[in-house]
Amino acid sequence: MYQEIDLDKIDIHAEPPIEEPARQYYYMAKCREWVRGLERKNGRRPTAFTQTFGCQMNARDSEKLAGILRQVGYEMTDDENADFVIFNTCTVRDNANQRVYGRLGELKNRKKRNPAMKIALCGCMMQEPAVIEKLRASYRFVDLIFGTHNIFRFAELLCRSFEEQGMIVDIWEDTDQIVEDLPVERKYPFKSGINIMFGCNNFCSYCIVPYVRGRERSREPEDILREIRRLAAGGVVEVMLLGQNVNSYGKNLKEPITFAGLLREVEKIEGLERIRFMTSHPKDLSDELIQVMKESRKICRHLHLPLQSGSTRVLERMNRRYTKEQYLALAEKIRREIPDIAITTDIIVGFPGETMEDVEDTIDVIRRVRYDNAFTFIYSRRTGTPAASMPDQVPEEQVREGFDRVLKVVQDTAREQVARYQGQVAEVLVEEINEHEEGLLTGRMSNNTLVHFPGSPELIGRIVPVALDKCQGFYYMGRIMR
Ligand code: SAH
Ligand code: SF4
Ligand code: F3S
Repeated sequence: MYQEIDLDKIDIHAEPPIEEPARQYYYMAKCREWVRGLERKNGRRPTAFTQTFGCQMNARDSEKLAGILRQVGYEMTDDENADFVIFNTCTVRDNANQRVYGRLGELKNRKKRNPAMKIALCGCMMQEPAVIEKLRASYRFVDLIFGTHNIFRFAELLCRSFEEQGMIVDIWEDTDQIVEDLPVERKYPFKSGINIMFGCNNFCSYCIVPYVRGRERSREPEDILREIRRLAAGGVVEVMLLGQNVNSYGKNLKEPITFAGLLREVEKIEGLERIRFMTSHPKDLSDELIQVMKESRKICRHLHLPLQSGSTRVLERMNRRYTKEQYLALAEKIRREIPDIAITTDIIVGFPGETMEDVEDTIDVIRRVRYDNAFTFIYSRRTGTPAASMPDQVPEEQVREGFDRVLKVVQDTAREQVARYQGQVAEVLVEEINEHEEGLLTGRMSNNTLVHFPGSPELIGRIVPVALDKCQGFYYMGRIMR
């Protein structure tokens, strides 16, 4: 495992090993020589900055990038004015792409002032050929570009960028490799994301993810459990199991296992207190999973169950493979079995062909399911997806109107839902010092609701009972019970 590998013992003058992860450790050792050279030249350790766009999976990937950067000798910083800047990009909606281009424009000026600075780009956006073309044509100051499938080769690519001049571009179309045991630098010492699977096979007609993340691949349960055991032994009390559709976890393994089966094993890990997961596709959510959640002491009372649309007609065109009625029946069953659960969701407004009547169907589902929170997105046309070439794109004005209506209902119902625990005492995992008000801490209930309360920073990482005195919209103000 990575903690046991001593980079100084690796012979960097030998040929690089073929097998992984040994090959990457060899390149880490080589990079470290380069970084030491920079340190001698500048009289200080060079700094590195990672910026993540997009989902939890990207956030976890960035922790892996940071793990390698630190391992090779960079000092990690929150300041974009760093010697090495890497953007881990997202392309799920066009505004994610626009943000990256905007930030790159700023970096260009910075690099003019400091030509020794290195700039790298990776992540989902890089898997799109049109993006690479644009970068090659107009963003020549970028040093290194790689994609989602070869992120495990970061050390090797970094090494190349020290050795070679000019822009390095390395994008793979797909991969079936899963490389274990590379370094990771976690953002929080007490909680961690864990990839359980990569890619997606669902091809929802609006979504770019299957094209940029490739086919579904599950990690071996033993690798996952070993990683979590090690984390728990190191003080991690909460894990979030990550996948685009965790409900289809394990189906393609040599020895198939269900997601519920995996959860049963994770539950047994000593020291671990809380288990979360993301995301559940409604079409694959099994009765076995509901049962495991119901019986579990550790699985959090929160389920993110993306609806996307409440109209069966739209759902069919979205290729979601459930109807409005099936979704409602599922939500009802979950509520019946686990009454204290918080259900949250994702909704898209403005999908091609969507009428105001369809939007009413979505609103009807929101009212009936009563979400604790819903992320509402305006449909974004993604080149290459089936929906992008559907003829009946919805006019902007109508989309706006539908979006505002959905948002209003979401907010009204969420406010009521969140408030239902006012006056009770809840177990809260203390996560951080409140950024806005001195003396306050911020923690999270099992059902994912945030609570702010007075307390001392030593409590961070602990689970404490907190009285939920006052609900303020979507969070609580509380006080610790002794
Ligand atoms: N795998 C997850 C979602 C990943 S993307 C799932 O299936 O639930 C996160 C969310 O982005 C999606 O749930 C969807 O609501 C939204 N999204 C995806 N593609 C989009 C698009 N083209 N336009 C607007 N929103 C989109
Ligand atoms: Fe995209 Fe659908 Fe896969 Fe989620 S399940 S990542 S929305 S294609
Ligand atoms: Fe974005 Fe890629 Fe996640 S497109 S939402 S970062 S999988």
